[in-house]
Amino acid sequence: TNSNVLFYIIAYLVGSIPFGLILAKLFANVNVKESGSGSIGATNVLRVVKQTNPKLAKKLGIATVLLDALKGTVVLIVAIMFNAPTETLWAIAVLSVLGHCYSVYLSLEGGKGVATGLGVFIVLIPIPTLIGAIVWGFCAKVLKVSSLSSLLGLTAVILSAILFNNGLEVGSNAPMYIIAFIIYYKHIPNIIRLIKGEEKKVI
Ligand code: G3P
Repeated sequence: TNSNVLFYIIAYLVGSIPFGLILAKLFANVNVKESGSGSIGATNVLRVVKQTNPKLAKKLGIATVLLDALKGTVVLIVAIMFNAPTETLWAIAVLSVLGHCYSVYLSLEGGKGVATGLGVFIVLIPIPTLIGAIVWGFCAKVLKVSSLSSLLGLTAVILSAILFNNGLEVGSNAPMYIIAFIIYYKHIPNIIRLIKGEEKKVI
């Protein structure tokens, strides 16, 4: 229906907002796209701003992860208030992550989808997402590698969603797999560095 299409457009346009890039430019006058991993996500904001202002880096990193997560969550919650069906909600979730990873404002460049994925998964598959968040926190503490912790946390979300069949009454797990695929795909450079043993510890 028309309102669905409107939601899809809004999801993609809101998902495309590069909060990390904006915050780092505004408050630290650095361009995260041209520094560190080149990603616009919280990890790279933390990494790049840390070089000049460690205290500010932490604040901006936290603000980035929250805002990047919220841009998925908020559109979903509005759609839920409009009684959008589950299939529509999952399509919104995919488009939010797609917007973050392939931003219309950045000639289709962007982030890696971890925070925005978290923001949509927590609404749609809350229990698997909490399990994934615990796995992520544990890995981040022990391994101290952001990308690997994200990938293991994501894998935990997907496996526990399959195990508990939580929130997947949409009839197909496809949208969840698409989101996971986008995030894995965006991490290919990280995965190559991890295999080579070149991925940086403690960001
Ligand atoms: O959440 C993104 C993280 O998994 C990797 O970011 O900047 O280290 O490539 P980055």
